[in-house]
Amino acid sequence: MIAFLFLISQYFCEEQKNVLLTYFSYTNTTKILAESIANQIRESSNNKLNLTVQQLHVESIPLGWKQSLGLYWNSFRGKDSMHVKELNQDLTSYDAVMVGAPVWWYGTACPVIHWAQTAKIDHLRTKFFFFNMAGGSGNERAFTHLASTMHVTPLETLGITTKTTSPDFLVAQYVNNCLKQLGALSASPLNSQGDKAGEESNEIKNELKKGVEQSKKQIKETFKADPSGKTEEL
Ligand SMILES: Cc1cc2nc3c(=O)[nH]c(=O)nc-3n(C[C@H](O)[C@H](O)[C@H](O)COP(=O)(O)O)c2cc1C
Repeated sequence: MIAFLFLISQYFCEEQKNVLLTYFSYTNTTKILAESIANQIRESSNNKLNLTVQQLHVESIPLGWKQSLGLYWNSFRGKDSMHVKELNQDLTSYDAVMVGAPVWWYGTACPVIHWAQTAKIDHLRTKFFFFNMAGGSGNERAFTHLASTMHVTPLETLGITTKTTSPDFLVAQYVNNCLKQLGALSASPLNSQGDKAGEESNEIKNELKKGVEQSKKQIKETFKADPSGKTEEL
């Protein structure tokens, strides 16, 4: 009886874990991925997690070819050429931090690297999970890039490219594994993948397809407006 009451009290007194999902997105495809992950976490964790979603902001995006070359170097050095607003963030109150980024020049996009360099981390407390969006390749190198910058080993990673055939399944699998690592899995997101007729869910795939088309248009129009090197104020 006492053991039963103890278990019941543990169940009700269990504290919510604090999770931060932070990401940067230039042309919004990482944003689509981040929002899908956040939605599935909310649906599958049954309020066991206190999830905060944060988009990293930059003051400007240098888009021209000259600045683009600068971005190449800066993405490796993590130089703050774009003025990230969330620098020196204190992450020590989070049990888990999920970091999402686009792949730039086979590394993690420089705004995320610069944010990571200045973030305050409790390496004993906080678990890390990474996810990336890439045009074609470079996800693995980008994960290594970010992990070495933060001096952490991510427990799970998810690398999606515009050519990934089943992003919906991979996102569900990623969320499933992250929630397991946090002891917060209530209903597996994998269960909603594929109906009885064996048809896969393609919601994220379709969103990403639209997002990629829009981002191509956005980049093309900006270059047309000023091919020499425009800085877009945000
Ligand atoms: C400066 C820059 C460098 C890029 N470098 C790569 C790369 O090395 N490999 C790759 O697969 N895609 C690369 N891409 C494409 C992006 O990773 C891809 O378009 C991604 O979906 C963008 O994410 P976002 O829409 O969240 O900004 C690059 C894009 C930019 C703007």
